[in-house]
Amino acid sequence: MTNNPRINKLRERKTQSHLGGGKERIEAQHKKGRLTARERLDLLLDKGSFREVDTFIVHRTHDFGLNQQVFPGDSVVTGWGTIDGRLVYAYSQDFTVLGGSLGEVHAEKICKIMDMAMKNGAPCIGLNDSGGARIQEGVVALAGYADIFLRNTMASGVIPQISAIMGPCAGGAVYSPALTDLIFMVRNSSYMFVTGPDVVKAVTHEEVSFENLGGASIHSEKSGVCHVAADSEADTLYLIRKLLGYLPQNNMEDPPFVDTGDDPLRMDEALDTLIPDDAGKPYDIKDAIGMIVDGGQFFEIHENFAQNIVVGFARLGGHSVGIVANQPAVLAGVLDIDASEKGARFVRLCDSFNIPIITFEDVPGFLPGTVQEHGGIIRSGAKLLYAYCEATVPKLTVITRKAYGGAYCVMSSKHIRSDVNLAWPTAEIAVMGPDGAVNIVFRKELDKAKDPIQRKAELVAEYREKFANPYIAAERGYLDDVIEPKETRPRLINALAMLSNKRDTNPAKKHGNIPL
Ligand code: HXC
Repeated sequence: MTNNPRINKLRERKTQSHLGGGKERIEAQHKKGRLTARERLDLLLDKGSFREVDTFIVHRTHDFGLNQQVFPGDSVVTGWGTIDGRLVYAYSQDFTVLGGSLGEVHAEKICKIMDMAMKNGAPCIGLNDSGGARIQEGVVALAGYADIFLRNTMASGVIPQISAIMGPCAGGAVYSPALTDLIFMVRNSSYMFVTGPDVVKAVTHEEVSFENLGGASIHSEKSGVCHVAADSEADTLYLIRKLLGYLPQNNMEDPPFVDTGDDPLRMDEALDTLIPDDAGKPYDIKDAIGMIVDGGQFFEIHENFAQNIVVGFARLGGHSVGIVANQPAVLAGVLDIDASEKGARFVRLCDSFNIPIITFEDVPGFLPGTVQEHGGIIRSGAKLLYAYCEATVPKLTVITRKAYGGAYCVMSSKHIRSDVNLAWPTAEIAVMGPDGAVNIVFRKELDKAKDPIQRKAELVAEYREKFANPYIAAERGYLDDVIEPKETRPRLINALAMLSNKRDTNPAKKHGNIPL
């Protein structure tokens, strides 16, 4: 308390606003194992950096007794602060106020900081914990969502937009996070669905829990809606801080350089023996990534979804890079619908924000079968192809082993504007694997052969000798070089430096028509 009544009044009003829905509801939130909107912002942002806006704003609705429930600041806390000293805008929905429901002023608050983030070119982070559209406000609440969706779309590719789901996120409300670049979820404490368990039961007679319908595990393993799932709220917020270190503030900037202290010329001898002698044997591409990137640090996106492709951020010589790698340890690294979509989305994220793309390729092709064909692998594979073709950031490719068929073309081949294409001596670049090729090309000969098994083995060996190597592609100039695996790190860092002023553009158009 001061002697100045006006200042005392101000303090009183701010304290009241900071209490949100009041002590009881804060306790209820804690009892559920969840933090409050403000506690989350404290963990997300640098200490003491948060500057709040619209602390005193109140809703304008009188219907259904809402005039008796007025909370200064309404049900979302908004403002800006810093993460590692860099400006970000953030909003954090306050479940203690009317269940974090979104009405007119809640939407206005979010739109205000989104507009500021766009004007000033800084990321916008949304922490979601809400019962959805405020029922008492009717269509005005729906209008508020639509206002946010429009801004999410306009901001896409201009500023990074990150969503964290910290509690409920249901109905049409899911579409704001879905329009942003990356969705983080808290395990066993958050859920997202278009229609909840009750509606599901009424319509389809399925009985399903909140967690099994739209929890973090479902969305990070099955649907792919969630990019990063963490065990606690604190972990989730920490990971968002970490992720932002790889991204620029906006599409006009380069990502931040960080001196990682890792020698750019470092070579890891273990890479030379990573690929098994038997081409049918798997190995873990994440081992290669770990040996090549700075400090072995790899921030994986979609870690548990479509694991036959690996995507994520790392640094090479201190520069942020996006890595896309086929994973021979899962389904032999084959490209299927989910892997194609996962890869395509990540390539576009990197290209939007000036992050060079490093592709590690070991792919036997696209997954055959009616499930894939009927599910639209043609459309999904085309997404990945389109994403690579249109990307103008520096693109570097390393073929570690198989590069077969259409997948050779798709995975950042020279022909679709990759800048530097390297291969290890273990690379096999061909229209298809030796077995399949021999079956087709020599079918008649094998039918007539006295000992078809023996003859096939000879033909396979001949084919392998002839095609299953990197040198035909290198002779054509489709590969810039064949390198010893241990040289990969210095060669990639050198290529990135060589490409640091790369300028490439696409033809002027309203926008392309990516196969959706
Ligand atoms: C108004 C709401 C609300 C809402 C919750 N509350 N959701 N008030 N509009 N949408 C209020 C509750 O009445 C309650 O107030 C307080 O918030 C806390 O809610 P509880 O139900 O007590 O909490 P809990 O048991 O944790 O359950 C959380 C919940 C549940 C599962 C989210 O509240 C719920 O089902 N809410 C409705 C969800 C929903 O159907 N929303 C509409 C989705 S459609 P009191 O004062 O009683 O404590 C949608 C359309 C968007 O959002 C369209 C965009 C295009």
